[in-house]
Amino acid sequence: MNLADRDRAVLWHPYTQMLTAPLPIPIVRAEGVWLYTEDGRRILDGISSWWVNIHGHSHPKLNAALAAQARELEHVVFAGCTHRPAVELAERLLEILPQGLARVFYSDNGSTAVEVALKLAIQYWRNLGEPNRRAFITLNNAYHGDTVGAMSASEDSVFTRAFSTLMFRVDRVRTLLDMEERLNNAAGSVAAVLIEPMLQGAGGMIVWPAEFVAGVRRLCDRYNTLLIADEVLTGFGRTGRMFACEHAAITPDIICLSKALTAGYLPLGVTATTSAVYDAFSSDDRAKTFFHGHSYTANPLACAVGVASLDLFRGGNVLANVARLEQQLRDGFEPLRALGDVRVIGGVAALELVSDKPGYLDQIGPRLAAAFLERGLLLRPLGNVVYFMPPYCITESEAAWAIEQIAAVLC
Ligand SMILES: Cc1ncc(COP(=O)(O)O)c(C=O)c1O
Repeated sequence: MNLADRDRAVLWHPYTQMLTAPLPIPIVRAEGVWLYTEDGRRILDGISSWWVNIHGHSHPKLNAALAAQARELEHVVFAGCTHRPAVELAERLLEILPQGLARVFYSDNGSTAVEVALKLAIQYWRNLGEPNRRAFITLNNAYHGDTVGAMSASEDSVFTRAFSTLMFRVDRVRTLLDMEERLNNAAGSVAAVLIEPMLQGAGGMIVWPAEFVAGVRRLCDRYNTLLIADEVLTGFGRTGRMFACEHAAITPDIICLSKALTAGYLPLGVTATTSAVYDAFSSDDRAKTFFHGHSYTANPLACAVGVASLDLFRGGNVLANVARLEQQLRDGFEPLRALGDVRVIGGVAALELVSDKPGYLDQIGPRLAAAFLERGLLLRPLGNVVYFMPPYCITESEAAWAIEQIAAVLC
């Protein structure tokens, strides 16, 4: 039996209606932007393997860092122990994160990085003697992950509807004006405002102006509440800056990172915060401790690859590549404007096709995905939103080829 048939007998895939989905693509090897299948085809990874891969697959320097770390220390409990990769990665992150972020808390994926942020915000106010500050304000079309807290903070959608009885209520707003009104009315009850700065990903690749992000910071300051920036997708260059908050020159009180944190190699989450938040947990009173952790917190293999990925940013032209890619995406997607709204930021280009039934369940998504795949391009449209988000190492000719395939299928 081939791999896909064996898979079908025992596995259950994410976001997949197993009854009707096509058989999964068996990938046996990957290098750079290319995935190689069991039957000898090669497919361009146009979604960076769910937005995680930035330097390309099987990068020799990342492979070497991982192998070296595996020989030294594969894992150790992080409550009561520490290790070099965890310390080094935290030091290196604090050097480059927006100024004012001073503490790193590890978890193991994007959703947990958000859960930690929500819990930190609630307990921060509780530890300060303001337990009534427990409401969250989030944005329409938000997506923050699939665990219960992260789902609650996300837009009500087909992703979350079946679980509504598990979730807590949040206030969702569309504009700065709405946000100010909520903050004004809810005096003293808002724990934090949570946003995906500059780019809302799973909600439809929606690009926000930097002034909006700066405006959210101003409102959080004016109404004395915390700002959480979910940079799980945008962190590490995806929007053209190392962190999306840099577009607006702001520092959030809490930032969530994952995905490209390990360049797409291993699961790891970071929730980093300011000394002001951290200090609210420092106490003789043990009840003020942050009681949260995961078995694989600060996994040394993941941290070592994270450090090696930051080395590549230091040594190479990574952000220059993103800038070049951005220009190529702008030029390449321009002719597609006739088909719908085009949005480009950093290494992401999206086309929202005009549709009678917009949304994730728009049948056009899977049909287009199959047509792209036939041409050797892996894309997963979000319903009627087709987007291209390759690893930053993609060459000009590879990107040109991919854009050609997209245009050929759509036009
Ligand atoms: C902005 C944002 N936050 C959180 C998450 C959740 O991350 P994970 O899938 O690693 O749980 C995602 C995943 O796409 C995301 O885009």
